[in-house]
Amino acid sequence: MKKTSQKKAAKPASKKPWGGRFAQRTDRRVEAFTESVSFDRRLAACDVRGSIAHAEMLGAKGVISKSDGRKIASGLRSVLREIEAGEFKFDPALEDVHMNVEAALTRKIGAAGGRLHTARSRNDQVATAVRLWLREEIDRIREGLMGLRRALVGQAEAGVDFVMPGYTHLQRAQPVSFAHHLLAYSQMFRRDGERLEDARKRVNILPLGSGALAGTGHAIDRRMVARKLGFDSVAENSMDAVSDRDFAIEFAAAASVSIMHLSRLGEEIVLWASGEFGFVELPDAFSTGSSLMPQKRNPDVAEIVRGKSGRVYGDLVALLTLMKGLPLAYNRDMQEDKEPLFDAADTLAACLDVMAPLIAAMRPNAERMAEAAEGGYMTATDLADAMVLRGVPFREAHEAVGRAVRLAAGKGIPLVRLTNADLLEADKRLDAADLRATELARSLSSRTSEGGSSKRSVLRQIKREKKRLGL
Ligand code: ARG
Repeated sequence: MKKTSQKKAAKPASKKPWGGRFAQRTDRRVEAFTESVSFDRRLAACDVRGSIAHAEMLGAKGVISKSDGRKIASGLRSVLREIEAGEFKFDPALEDVHMNVEAALTRKIGAAGGRLHTARSRNDQVATAVRLWLREEIDRIREGLMGLRRALVGQAEAGVDFVMPGYTHLQRAQPVSFAHHLLAYSQMFRRDGERLEDARKRVNILPLGSGALAGTGHAIDRRMVARKLGFDSVAENSMDAVSDRDFAIEFAAAASVSIMHLSRLGEEIVLWASGEFGFVELPDAFSTGSSLMPQKRNPDVAEIVRGKSGRVYGDLVALLTLMKGLPLAYNRDMQEDKEPLFDAADTLAACLDVMAPLIAAMRPNAERMAEAAEGGYMTATDLADAMVLRGVPFREAHEAVGRAVRLAAGKGIPLVRLTNADLLEADKRLDAADLRATELARSLSSRTSEGGSSKRSVLRQIKREKKRLGL
């Protein structure tokens, strides 16, 4: 009796790296509940890259022998090749990607593998892997934003002379050029890229070397690891380094703003592609049909992009909520940061990947835009401005033109067809010559202020954007 229990105690009850402290096997439900390898396997390549840098540094600094350092690094490179070839076998019993990689390494190179985890914890290890991963995602998404801007600028260039109604309250407000409208989105996506670029600075800081939370007594060189991995600096406080995820939250926040912009653009496409607007036509390749109504061609891509926005906001809120009550330092709750973070990046990247070609492929209908621009008395402001130029205070001009619009609307005619008698009835200061200001082309070309929708201003915007986009 006594003998058996002694035997049990001598041999770890599980193959887990932390098994030494444990006499009992992990319950399979606990194992299934706590594992993260089913999703954090995505970090595998980044995890290995972090480990290679760590091992090389340990060898170089004599924390482990040079030969062990070399053995570990080359073993890890072979693990990396398996991961990249999709041949690596992940075992959920080994809990997470970090323990899977370490176990594979030890299978390959034997006892030396057991020295990799010197002066390191999974806490600084996971924070490093996530930062490496996110850095690449940010770069990929920034490329995607540039691609979308290129498509917008391409359409803007082709549509500089297309006049369309500009809207406020979704009521026709003032004529604008189609290009001006598209370039507004290019500006939004430019800022989205800048936000990500800025967030990247705070992603690109090395946590490794913080240990579990307090640092280490081993003679490590964190700056060497940072250089090897391309980090700009090392985290200044070990407890902060292992326990905050603000960099992930910041990314999700920037992603949320960006997908909000994409959602608005999606909404415009849905409106523009409708029979009611008819401002653009989506080619078959970017439309989908109805299983019931044979005549339908639906803008599903734009709708799904609009719909996806909710997921990314959800990811942001999940991350914020995850972190809000956690005392320092690492808490296992933080394992839950991965899925929302992955989802936010994937969703945004997917939307950008499909919106760029959709925008490039859409066919604007200049006639329909011009027709819509003719109605709605959109140049009423120009008429008021003409009075202002002759010294009438704007508020009074506004009221006079309001009366003129009411007269014209009552007769169902455009402003230019008001008679002298009509004008006199509206306001004695209204001059027939002023009516020329209400011509669409004149109205549009008069918006010469910097950032306005005159052709000159639009061409200037296009030129600047093209330069930024390397076009
Ligand atoms: N899978 C864990 C995570 O994603 C890795 C860190 C585990 N650390 C620990 N002390 N149990 O957060």
